[in-house]
Amino acid sequence: MTKSPWIPIFLLLIISLPLIFFITSHFIKLPLSPYSSSPPPISLSDELDDLALFNRAVNSFHPTHLAKLRIASTNKKPKIAFLFLTNTQFHFAPLWEVFFKVDNVSGVSVYKDLFNVYVHADPNVRPEIKAQGFVFTKDRFIPAKATYRGSASLIAAERRLIANAILDDQENMFFSLVSPHCVLLHSFKYFYDTILQVGKHQFGEMMSVKFKSFIEVIDEDVNLWDRYNARGKNVMLPEVKFEDFRVGSQFFTLTRNHGLLVIRERRLWKKFRVPCVRQQSCYPEEHYFPTLLSMQDPEGYSGYTLTRVNWTDSVDGHPHTYHPNELSKELIYSLRKSEFKEDYMFARKFSPDCLGPLMDMADDVIFKD
Ligand SMILES: *[C@@H]1O[C@H](CO)[C@@H](O)[C@H](O)[C@H]1NC(C)=O
Ligand SMILES: *[C@@H]1O[C@H](CO)[C@@H](O)[C@H](O)[C@H]1NC(C)=O
Repeated sequence: MTKSPWIPIFLLLIISLPLIFFITSHFIKLPLSPYSSSPPPISLSDELDDLALFNRAVNSFHPTHLAKLRIASTNKKPKIAFLFLTNTQFHFAPLWEVFFKVDNVSGVSVYKDLFNVYVHADPNVRPEIKAQGFVFTKDRFIPAKATYRGSASLIAAERRLIANAILDDQENMFFSLVSPHCVLLHSFKYFYDTILQVGKHQFGEMMSVKFKSFIEVIDEDVNLWDRYNARGKNVMLPEVKFEDFRVGSQFFTLTRNHGLLVIRERRLWKKFRVPCVRQQSCYPEEHYFPTLLSMQDPEGYSGYTLTRVNWTDSVDGHPHTYHPNELSKELIYSLRKSEFKEDYMFARKFSPDCLGPLMDMADDVIFKD
């Protein structure tokens, strides 16, 4: 019997196929490369943990509690909860410290009674973040779970941040979601005064006044139909009709009422948590919040974002990233300008090495307004 020399070669080829695929998909840019593997679905135990947390947060706001709070807080100013969602380091932590006017010896902020910071971070990067300054030390980290791009895990993390902020401090009146790649364009004082404006709402003859959320809510977009069907055709029905489906920037500032609405919500979540079958159209966190608010309180938000993003020449859903050679006083001024009522407060994305030039401009440009 002659043993064919082809058999070992053939076997070797079979064994090396995954390796060849791995190498080619990493070095040759396949059109679907960032999306070629689906992120894992949310596990039942994570879901149950979250439900318990959300229930605790909602129940902490019993109406009698609210009445007491109103009395207690008559001469207190509302606080803004800054929610940092990240699985990378905070390269701009020093800039945030200047923003919060943190004393670099005592670690105490001039505005300590007006804000709180909460961080949802991948456990692997926590030690690095903790080393990055006062703002991110001291129990700012909430119990986190893994997050993946193109998955409802990002919605879950954002809801977790809101629920923790509600439980932690009853004076948190706003929830501002920010990214570690965001830089600041205005001072804390300016941001605070902007957020605390009230919106006027017409109810028939009556005019009511209340705080509003700042969140982008868009109903016309070329990709909307594909994104609506990212989980399969008509999967969103009957809870979310296509006419009700909205898109907006991931980064928002929600009022406390909207924060409570979001963590109480079950009906839309049931649909948005379904994993996508088309990863390239899968951006759940850009849809869940705008769709929910537009269905439940269409008068209660701005409809636009306070975070400036430059989508010119975007690649794989990532916006333009600024590098040090592009930075100038003029860039900061131009990034602030918006076609809406308020200036932009944040901008993204900036490469980590922009920190130095930004710090040099902090006092005279960025935080001068
Ligand atoms: C602390 O702040 C002072 C003045 O604001 C500055 O001169 C000094 O360099 C800072 N020290 C550190 C360690 O950052
Ligand atoms: C937006 O990014 C493009 C390059 O992608 C750049 O040419 C342009 O100057 C940027 N716009 C602003 C306002 O920074």
